[in-house]
Amino acid sequence: MRVLLTGSAGFIGGHVAQALDHDVITADLRTGVDVRDPAALDRLLRGVDAVVHQAAKVGLGVDVADLPDYASVNVYGTATLLAAMARHGVGRLVLASSMVVYGEGAYDCARHGRVRPGPRRAADLAAGVFDPRCPHCDDVLTPSVVAEDAAPDPRNAYATTKLAQEHLAANWARETGGTAVALRYHNVYGPRMPRDTPYAGVASIFLSALLAGRAPRVFEDGRQRRDFVHVRDVARVNVLALGAGTAGELTAYNIASGRPRTVGELAAALAERTGGPAPVTTGEYRLGDVRHIVASPRKAARELGFTAEIAFEDGVEEFAAAVTAP
Ligand code: UD1
Repeated sequence: MRVLLTGSAGFIGGHVAQALDHDVITADLRTGVDVRDPAALDRLLRGVDAVVHQAAKVGLGVDVADLPDYASVNVYGTATLLAAMARHGVGRLVLASSMVVYGEGAYDCARHGRVRPGPRRAADLAAGVFDPRCPHCDDVLTPSVVAEDAAPDPRNAYATTKLAQEHLAANWARETGGTAVALRYHNVYGPRMPRDTPYAGVASIFLSALLAGRAPRVFEDGRQRRDFVHVRDVARVNVLALGAGTAGELTAYNIASGRPRTVGELAAALAERTGGPAPVTTGEYRLGDVRHIVASPRKAARELGFTAEIAFEDGVEEFAAAVTAP
């Protein structure tokens, strides 16, 4: 199978490039190929059977000024790619999506059962009430797991554009009979994770602090939960996804380890492995953050045969060692 991999010079794309045992053509803005350039795509897509689309502007969007760039790279870029795939009769797409399309995760209310709360109130956060409240009775909720059929609720520019990519890919699949698979990545970490940028995820922010001799600053009460999934597991599932899906449809999968951790646990594990200062739990909060985002990995296990293999302890050890080694 001949595969075009976009975003091949990025963190996840680089690992996907290593995992693909196909005839691979790579494209990346950093190596001079822009997915918004139809002529470049026309050259690259000749004879291609499938596209693995990792190229995207990532992070959460630090500023409203970023909106045009998110829309351009992620939405217009994907639309341009899909149109080019249709021109060249390329019938298979694997799309890097994100758990951020769900917004706040799923929760249970003692009185109202399964609910999906709205954004948390600034007054609650300031008062140290970090778990969201029931939209019906205002009681504080208990977190549960999100499945792929949960209604999307994107809460920032990045999330909005990831959901738009899924919708465009679904349109493309329906119109062309193509097969689209969207991989909703959870918190991906591992070797070569970008550091020292405002778009870095929490694992790399903590590691950068520790390497500079500073304590990781754990926001809220540190009990917010995430699912940290290793980048080599994520690369592997991209390869599996090339053989999955249904013609004429987009199928979405949560890509998670199924073994969530708190942000406080992550900070403590990294501090221990690096021998750096113990984390400080600050009570700070970011209004745009969701509290817990924990999903069921069962559909990916059932239909893609994917189960994350790299345990959190081993992954964190390797992650810390890769940069602390002399
Ligand atoms: C992250 C990514 C998002 C990606 C998603 C799924 C970023 C900024 N976010 O979202 O793009 O789609 O994973 O892969 O890349 N925190 C601290 N201390 C800090 C920084 C953060 O305690 O110094 C906390 C936050 O308050 C939050 C948690 O860590 O509770 C996770 O933060 P972060 O990694 O930035 O964002 P996610 O929402 O998990």
